[in-house]
Amino acid sequence: MSGTAGRQEHGKKVAALISGRGSNMRALVEAQAQPGCPYEIVAVISNVPDAAGLDYARQQGIATAVIDHREFDSREAFEEMLHETLLVMQAELVACAGFMRIMTAEFVQRWEGRMLNIHPSLLPLFKGLHTHRRVLEAGVRIHGATVHFVTAELDGGPIIIQGAVPVLADDTEETLAQRVLRAEHAIYPAALWEVAAGNARLENGRVILRDWPFDESTTLTAPMAPIDFSRGQE
Ligand code: GRF
Repeated sequence: MSGTAGRQEHGKKVAALISGRGSNMRALVEAQAQPGCPYEIVAVISNVPDAAGLDYARQQGIATAVIDHREFDSREAFEEMLHETLLVMQAELVACAGFMRIMTAEFVQRWEGRMLNIHPSLLPLFKGLHTHRRVLEAGVRIHGATVHFVTAELDGGPIIIQGAVPVLADDTEETLAQRVLRAEHAIYPAALWEVAAGNARLENGRVILRDWPFDESTTLTAPMAPIDFSRGQE
């Protein structure tokens, strides 16, 4: 491997923030091989020194930085260093990908409309942690993932893209998490692509999409096959 993973040289510069495995960051990097990708992951920053995702980023020749939050006296001091690092890396967009730090309103404000996050549920349902367990307990039939702009409200920012998966009868937390993760890996690159290309943007607290690829005939259902609602109108 040359380590460049099909990187585009002229896309919007994106820094990915991780705390662990980094599989979503990897999906973002891999999508750069698509022709015309409008973004480039220029940096991977982790608050956890031994986050596994850092190894992948290094192998790909992507700049990495560790900013260990435990070395700072306050959240603000940690964020100041993070902000400075993002500026040094010349990041134009920030993609949080399993970044397990709550951010202050001040930091979020600085990156408003330029910072994305992925959450493993169909927001605004199941904000917070342990989403798959809570989904199973609640008995819902459709679950999924959401990419949204980051605002001061945790998991509450305007939604860019969602991906839905069925909850199956014999699902465990693990099988459900795997299915949702596949959806995450599909929707995060798609969302970042749209934002980087200027096709999705934040305006007055709402996401404006240039194209809306669905029409009224689209119905997502689980566990049945698609329902033909037109029959009810005969
Ligand atoms: C993902 O499920 C993401 O939605 C959530 O944290 C997990 C991170 O996984 N925010 P990975 O590090 O991207 O593999």
